[in-house]
Amino acid sequence: MSLRLAVLASGRGSNLQVILDAITAGTLDAEVVGAWSDRGDAQALVRARDAGLPAYAIRPRDFTDRAAHDHALFGALDAAAPDLIVCAGYMRLIGADVLASRAGRMINIHPSLLPAFKGLHTHQRALDAGATEHGASVHYVTAELDGGPVIAQARVPVLPGDDAAHLSARVLTHEHPLLLETLRWIAAGRVRLHEDGVHVDGRRADGPLQLAATRRFA
Ligand code: GAR
Repeated sequence: MSLRLAVLASGRGSNLQVILDAITAGTLDAEVVGAWSDRGDAQALVRARDAGLPAYAIRPRDFTDRAAHDHALFGALDAAAPDLIVCAGYMRLIGADVLASRAGRMINIHPSLLPAFKGLHTHQRALDAGATEHGASVHYVTAELDGGPVIAQARVPVLPGDDAAHLSARVLTHEHPLLLETLRWIAAGRVRLHEDGVHVDGRRADGPLQLAATRRFA
């Protein structure tokens, strides 16, 4: 049975698009049950609707506080009965109380080699720190911002003359296959979250899966 994905996105939606394209191409055994955004003008919602999928804006300003917004959002998500919630450029903090019951059923893609550069402006911060290597991570979502167990990473060189825009564009081209490959592993039942961390093929992983570099994605 294919993996039911609910996608959360705040903006452009290129990661959502590669998921949709892979499903259409038959290279990802999943279905997207809907897209949700905190912004009515998110391009991600347009992409979902263009694919014939339900797409909703649930805007924080329509609620009295974060908890009320979280409960509305997660109530809607639960009604769609996803197997996995995928944060693909979702730029809002989510409260611990709604996350607690969803451990191992929600992932996020973040543009850095976590635990380095949690939060915003990761590319500029990597440049400012003089990093020679940067990249992206897919991790399980916990109440700690960008702090949940890391499943997989893609490493990207920082090149002489890079600015944040160039580095961001290079990382994005690696984010897309990273997210797809991670979803394939989850869809195949090869990756799960246990109390002691991420398990791959039934054994506790000794570190994040590395896209391409170490060929641990097969
Ligand atoms: C991606 O680079 C993703 O890693 C990042 O937002 C971008 C969304 O792009 N996410 C975060 O920064 C989350 N902290 P997209 O809308 O084109 O998929």
